[in-house]
Amino acid sequence: MTAIEKIMPISTVEHNAIVSAQGDITIAYEASLPEIFTLSDRDYEAYHQTLIKAIKLLPVNSIFHKQDWFTETSYKANFETEDNSFLSRSSERFFNERPYLDHRCYIFLTKKPKDRKLSSSVYSNILRKSIVPQQTVNPVLFNDFLDSAGQFERILKDSGFITLRRLTDEELAGTGNRPGIIEKYCFLQKEGEKTIRDVHIKDELRIGEAHCKLFTLSDAEDLPALCGSRINYDKYSTDRTKFSIGFASPLGQLLPCNHVYNQYVFIEDAPKTLKRLEAKKLRLQSLSSYSRENAISRDATNDFLNEAIGQQRLPVKAHFNVLAWSEDEAEIKDLKNKVSSALAQMDATPKEETDGAPQIWWSGLPGNQADFPMNDTFDTFLEQASCFLNLETNYRSSISPFGIRFGDRLSGRPVHTDISDEPIKLGYTTNRNKFIIGPSGSGKSFFTNHMVRSYYEQGTHVVLVDVGHSYKGLCDLVGGYYFTYSEKDPIKFNPFYLTDGDVLDTEKKESIKTLLLALWKKDDEPFTRSEYVALSNALTLYYQHLDAHSEIFPCFNSFYDYLMEHYMQVLENGKVKEKDFDIGNFLYVLNPYYKGGEYDYLLNATENLDLLNERFIVFELDAVKDHPILFPVVTIIIMEVFISKMRKLKGIRKMILLEEAWKAIAKEGMAEYLKYLFKTVRKFFGEAIVVTQEIEDIISSPIVKQAIVNNSDCKILLDQSKYQNKFDAIQELLGLTDKEKAQVLSMNKANDPKRKYKEVFISLGGQYSKVYRTEVSLEEYLAYTTEESEKMKVQQYSEKYGSIQKGIAVLASELRNQNS
Ligand SMILES: Nc1ncnc2c1ncn2[C@@H]1O[C@H](COP(=O)(O)OP(=O)(O)O)[C@@H](O)[C@H]1O
Ligand SMILES: [Mg+2]
Repeated sequence: MTAIEKIMPISTVEHNAIVSAQGDITIAYEASLPEIFTLSDRDYEAYHQTLIKAIKLLPVNSIFHKQDWFTETSYKANFETEDNSFLSRSSERFFNERPYLDHRCYIFLTKKPKDRKLSSSVYSNILRKSIVPQQTVNPVLFNDFLDSAGQFERILKDSGFITLRRLTDEELAGTGNRPGIIEKYCFLQKEGEKTIRDVHIKDELRIGEAHCKLFTLSDAEDLPALCGSRINYDKYSTDRTKFSIGFASPLGQLLPCNHVYNQYVFIEDAPKTLKRLEAKKLRLQSLSSYSRENAISRDATNDFLNEAIGQQRLPVKAHFNVLAWSEDEAEIKDLKNKVSSALAQMDATPKEETDGAPQIWWSGLPGNQADFPMNDTFDTFLEQASCFLNLETNYRSSISPFGIRFGDRLSGRPVHTDISDEPIKLGYTTNRNKFIIGPSGSGKSFFTNHMVRSYYEQGTHVVLVDVGHSYKGLCDLVGGYYFTYSEKDPIKFNPFYLTDGDVLDTEKKESIKTLLLALWKKDDEPFTRSEYVALSNALTLYYQHLDAHSEIFPCFNSFYDYLMEHYMQVLENGKVKEKDFDIGNFLYVLNPYYKGGEYDYLLNATENLDLLNERFIVFELDAVKDHPILFPVVTIIIMEVFISKMRKLKGIRKMILLEEAWKAIAKEGMAEYLKYLFKTVRKFFGEAIVVTQEIEDIISSPIVKQAIVNNSDCKILLDQSKYQNKFDAIQELLGLTDKEKAQVLSMNKANDPKRKYKEVFISLGGQYSKVYRTEVSLEEYLAYTTEESEKMKVQQYSEKYGSIQKGIAVLASELRNQNS
């Protein structure tokens, strides 16, 4: 047996570069790629062109080697944090050990010394007993190479698709207790692993217990007839939409086994290559009369030469291989099937390497790329070769500490996602408002339950207005304030009364004015400037009047009194014409809210709901949802409560969510108020969220469209397959791109049948969009569910065991036992 150090072809690692025994210099980067399922056709093309441009900058005699590692890993839950809630803990337990493919991408750039002997499979250094003495590196050449590498790096970084981080000596060679990338490759170590294994290269390539299979694309014959930057992903495509993934993604993130995908481009002297091929062509020509095969080969070479010259393409040599491994005997047979079917998607055929496998594997060793057996490469152009580069990685979590837990589409692995602050920071959005749309049963309420819970647990003040009893469970669980509107217990409120901490500033006045206008004006009746000014004056004078008469209690009644007794006179003195402000009409329309009127309780509360310190409030308006006056007025009152709360809680995140309730105010021409809310909320670290199932409601009212859609930078869509036929209208309304359309229509098309979840589409300012899983633990499910029978069961258990938390805990464990 040979000790691996003896044949190690590496001479030294210094200046963040690896120098091989032959004097080849290799530098390495860890690359961070775009997330899978997020790029458009145009992105793929631009990205592809960027790679070509970058690789073209590399000098002659250099090697571009991209090495993508995909290792089977499982999610490690964090049970340490003490302050986790019951549901958060249940989520950690649920996702603990969830398997997924971890991805790392490295890019190696190697420069060979000028006169280096080319390697071939009979001369690979893995077969040698010891390595020839070291060669020294010319510092001028080294610096020139670094210059080209720097340009290469800049092109990629500037494109915005890839970020690169140069690996340091320690990351390359390792330290006493942390393996470097060289060692990791030798022993196929997963992230964080340090095991040193035996490497067997006789009969098969075996590293420790892992049986390795090597599949190559090293022969032009095995390659697809056509290649490009992207292909269709059938699972997510529909009759109307084509879903794009990178051309090589089937060999990357989508190949579900431990594997390393090695991608090589060898840059040689282009004129020399063409000359070589020209010579080959002539030789082939002379043989062509004997064998038809030679004639075909000659034609191919001819085409190649024509393309090189005609289209100014860079001829290169290329090689691609997938090294897949498993420690499980049974799985090994399956590896070939998996790789073959992946390649079939690209229309290529894999060749399983047996005898040559060790050499090919060995030359993938960081720093040893120049020892690649060149007989295993094929002639092509950089444009074509670049199609085989893996372009994507899996979903990344937000860096921001704030966010929601979603799952990635392929495995459900938890991803922490900030859809409020980070998008603003990154310039994707300018507000935090959200617009949620999906047909009935598509999971809107379930999703919003999950979202508001996450926000609540991170300190947000939440106000929900609902008409479907969808938030009772969650409200009970977090000990929130649940208000059900009923005739016996109507909402009472007083917009004129200033509670502690309230000041009568412009904002406050503005909000009272908007409220009064909303109560006054009907559907298609806009208010005029003079009406606005008149009301504004009325308010100012009313408060001056209050200052002078401390015995008067501020409320709607006394305001109404003031208008009748004093303001009428003021208007007359100032000779305000009726057409400028019809005070008679105003008093008439608002009369029901005045003493003795039908709704006189609404605006004359003697003490305001003190909701300032309630962090979770649900207003359930089911009982009045068909009432033409109460529903809109109550909704506006609630918004007013929220707005005044918002103004007082500085530096604290707030959220108001309206489930269908916005319709009440949209219809009644109170949409101005909605617009006001959406705009104001932004200034106070707040967000307004509207949930709806009917697109028509929104299209039919331009002001609503403007107020809600145009002021919500975050668009959230649930399953739209029901609306496939009218999706164009939705697309237009929301201004979705074709890529976003394809993403939306791909939702829930290929869900894992073994798991219970739904997908959700989230677009941030049209600049960044993704589909996630909303997958939750059983405990979370029971807290969020809107199914009547399940809700009843939770309620029964809650009563029986004393609290909803205990009820859910017992019910969840019973259900789990039933299933196992
Ligand atoms: N992400 C999800 N995971 C599991 N079940 C879900 C999910 N979303 C919705 N459901 C199921 O679908 C039902 C209906 O969802 P719901 O949110 O009430 O729909 P909507 O509000 O759009 O009418 C829920 O009660 C739940 O059983
Ligand atoms: Mg609902």
